[in-house]
Amino acid sequence: MNDVLNVVVDGLWRQGDKNLAVRLVAANGEPLPGWQPGAHIDVHLPCGLIRQYSLTGESTTESYLICVAQESASRGGSRYIHQTLRPGQTLMISAPRNLFALRDDGPVLLLAAGIGITPLYAMLLQREAQGVPFTLHYFVKRREEAAFARELDHSLTHGVCLIHCSSEGKSPRQTLAATIPAPGAGERIYTCGPAGFMAAVREVAAAKGWAETQIHSEAFAPVAPVVASQQEETFTITLASSGEKWPVPANKSIAQVLQDNGVAVPLSCEMGICGACLTPVLDGVVDHRDTVQSAAEKTAATQHIALCCSRSHSRDLVIDL
Ligand code: FES
Repeated sequence: MNDVLNVVVDGLWRQGDKNLAVRLVAANGEPLPGWQPGAHIDVHLPCGLIRQYSLTGESTTESYLICVAQESASRGGSRYIHQTLRPGQTLMISAPRNLFALRDDGPVLLLAAGIGITPLYAMLLQREAQGVPFTLHYFVKRREEAAFARELDHSLTHGVCLIHCSSEGKSPRQTLAATIPAPGAGERIYTCGPAGFMAAVREVAAAKGWAETQIHSEAFAPVAPVVASQQEETFTITLASSGEKWPVPANKSIAQVLQDNGVAVPLSCEMGICGACLTPVLDGVVDHRDTVQSAAEKTAATQHIALCCSRSHSRDLVIDL
């Protein structure tokens, strides 16, 4: 477990009728590590779960702000935060990790759905402070669900924010084609929300002339099952440092095999969405199953593998451990 920080819950308040904003401050009163929009932290909940949440709001080291949706299909993290977490409670968190950073200082088209607003709200505030043009399209089922609606309603000098509600006939399916224009010079799209929403964004944007390299996304849930099925082939994982090798059977992840053999693996989400376990690959063909890396990163000359969920197309895979 790297860089664990002790923090105190300094405030909890509603953001829309199904989200809870949580402000965290360092337990020792010191500034927290700096971060940039797109960063997330692992939150170690006292119920034993570790969950990833994007940092949102202004990029400050005085406190961290996260915002958590009340999920009807909660695996426990959202339920704990909504029903049990209280101001004054101490928590452990990781240092911020950023796999969704703004790539440059150019104009941005931000497309959020549901609680996917959190990293994009931080990006919007940074662009507003920098005086760089932005447009935010924020899709929610009902207007009352929108987080940061009051803040987004304040006059913005350098960009615009539009909230689209499915209950008002403006679902992504009905509206995306009209909201995504042809790309402007130097413009990039950042999108966050359910996998289906982001896939629709990519499809519409591609049809409007956006290149794959101009579109950046972050998923909150795996898009493919991360548990290997019995039809999977067994392959061999080799540690470059020692030459030790072990078979990875169909019913185990690489991370599980490594841990079974006493190799420490930094794990967090175990679903391929946080990047904690990304490890350089020195030889072999990776069967990528994570949603952390972009398509370009998954086909780059230098490859990384998410040990918690990805597998191998080749019989042998050599990793830099
Ligand atoms: S532990 Fe999160 S991507 Fe592997």
